[in-house]
Amino acid sequence: MKPQPAISTTQRFTFKGNRKDTRYGWLRLTPAYSMHLVSELLDEHVQQGDNVLDPFCGTGTTALACAERGINCDTIDINPFLIWLTNAKTHSYTKSEIAAFKAASMHVAKAIRDEEQQTRWLPPLYQIEKWWEESVLLALGRAMHRIKKLEATTYSNAVDLLKIAFCRLAIEQANVSFGHQSMSFKKAEEPQTFDFRFSQIDSMAAHWEGSIASIAVAATSLTLVQPEVSLCDARSLTSNLDANFYSCVITSPPYPNRMSYIRELRPYMYWLGYLQTQREAGELDWQAIGGTWGCATSNVGKWQLPSDTDIPYRGFNEILAGVAERSPLLSRYIHKYFYDMVQHCREIFAVVKPGGAVNYIIGNSKFYDVMLPAQEIYAAMFESCGFEQTEIRTIRKRTSKKELFEFVVSARKPSSMAKKKAVMP
Ligand SMILES: C[S@@+](CC[C@H](N)C(=O)[O-])C[C@H]1O[C@@H](n2cnc3c(N)ncnc32)[C@H](O)[C@@H]1O
Repeated sequence: MKPQPAISTTQRFTFKGNRKDTRYGWLRLTPAYSMHLVSELLDEHVQQGDNVLDPFCGTGTTALACAERGINCDTIDINPFLIWLTNAKTHSYTKSEIAAFKAASMHVAKAIRDEEQQTRWLPPLYQIEKWWEESVLLALGRAMHRIKKLEATTYSNAVDLLKIAFCRLAIEQANVSFGHQSMSFKKAEEPQTFDFRFSQIDSMAAHWEGSIASIAVAATSLTLVQPEVSLCDARSLTSNLDANFYSCVITSPPYPNRMSYIRELRPYMYWLGYLQTQREAGELDWQAIGGTWGCATSNVGKWQLPSDTDIPYRGFNEILAGVAERSPLLSRYIHKYFYDMVQHCREIFAVVKPGGAVNYIIGNSKFYDVMLPAQEIYAAMFESCGFEQTEIRTIRKRTSKKELFEFVVSARKPSSMAKKKAVMP
């Protein structure tokens, strides 16, 4: 066997291992995990013929790794844009679709360069001028106008690839940086004293052409099976999925760290028509577990704990009380997050088959001076739903604060539920 090039810990576990020139790196999502980590978990736990589930699909890392190995995989997410992206990343493209994609991309390149063209399509993104400098925005608007026209005449799968290339271009050209755990606007630069527009448009067109070439190469690699990708809420899996079916779950749920997916995904979602208003963005993040964007935060403030659920972790109330001393809102956020996750754990127990295993990648958090040991709370939630052989493995130290780590929390559904019941007092 050829020796594999060494990879760093960050590449092994985080989105940084998902190379841009492969399908895994087609679009970046900071909280995505690495295909290397999924590969290791598949090697350890999954055989041909098994059915894998990822109930928090995100950018589809689990689904793609399974598709490449010919392993059946179902995946769900609450965000329709991520469903679209995962379908596009895991599709087996035909030669004609790739040829159509390349041919159509030339029309878009022409539109980017054609500064005389007045027809353009711009999304209703709030304060769009903060995202892109005017000449860049107009070029993006011309490109999207052209892509929309191409939708009528080109294979829809080829148009999907154009849209991925478009999202890459839009984010590369945006005034944003990814320094911290998620995206923020770059500091305003000194005003330019002379006009760079022409070179900038040329450079945009060159970026576009580079992306097209790289996406086309990655798209020619065939996936062996198409995963089933559906829009669904992880708190009500049984409404969509079969009970007692999955032999293995590999996933990374949202972390209880106030990270908003909508915040990072909104430029793509507005450009591709998945969002029209700020209200919609907040509502979607409110549906997501742990969401904080727009009205999601004010709704958390009004949220009342339903009386039917306790969080099965000794010490949970003390954690809530400790955080509440500094921020009652944050304490309620943590409570709602774990309330939602208890609903999810009950559902995941129902869809995993007897003897099947779950593997959750999760990070702990710290609010003020209070530690939130999310990994231990997950283990306790799994046990209280009926899972056994619970195990917590530390996989890496995160770079943000010294106490923050990432873990794999694993557990197994008893192989014989009847036997299990018989031994219970
Ligand atoms: C940490 S990300 C998953 C990242 C993924 N492993 C990847 O590699 O891209 C968590 C995902 O959970 C999704 N999510 C949040 N709440 C959900 C819910 N109630 N039902 C289903 N998905 C949800 C979010 O939209 C987000 O895509």
